[in-house]
Amino acid sequence: VSVTIDTARAADAEELARMRHALYDEYGDADLPIEDYVGRFAAFVRNALEDPRWMICVARADGQLVATMWLQLVGRVPQPVAHNGSRPIGYLTNVYVDPAHRDAGIGARMLHTVRDWARAADVSTILCWPAPSDAAERFYARGGFHRNGSPMVLDVTR
Ligand SMILES: CC(C)(COP(=O)(O)OP(=O)(O)OC[C@H]1O[C@@H](n2cnc3c(N)ncnc32)[C@H](O)[C@@H]1OP(=O)(O)O)[C@@H](O)C(=O)NCCC(=O)NCCS
Repeated sequence: VSVTIDTARAADAEELARMRHALYDEYGDADLPIEDYVGRFAAFVRNALEDPRWMICVARADGQLVATMWLQLVGRVPQPVAHNGSRPIGYLTNVYVDPAHRDAGIGARMLHTVRDWARAADVSTILCWPAPSDAAERFYARGGFHRNGSPMVLDVTR
């Protein structure tokens, strides 16, 4: 099967919704039944496709979507002089490879592509919150991610 890495298009919206639901299902956290989820999430996908801050990477096997990876460019306040301090951050999220296509290097190839996109967009650092699984942890570590301090987070919903 030939697998190609590509950018998402509007026709992928429903399939991307199914993958998002499957990702949450896998971690026991899907908040809506799939029937209700697809339409809502597909609307979000269509908006994201119009939004220059989102880069949506997909993998297709024989034309069928089998994986996705999303990068959002997070802008930073420019420094007046030094440009380097104000390069955008890349926030990597919604990383999912269809179970039947795992352990074949698809995730690694996509990570390469996303890294190239990030470089082209002048991103300095990509960050992510790995899913709570050893496979996810190994995957990011193999891709060159490392723990670099830890951010301070505040839960504002409380
Ligand atoms: C984590 C995840 C994205 C990895 O995707 P993937 O496409 O399976 O990743 P790769 O194929 O590049 O690497 C996975 C393993 O396959 C191995 N592999 C890669 N190519 C291979 C090949 N041609 N033959 C045999 N093994 C191979 C890798 O060495 C790696 O092994 P390891 O886990 O023992 O270190 C995928 O497992 C997934 O979607 N998990 C569920 C959702 C999730 O946790 N997402 C992360 C959210 S933050």
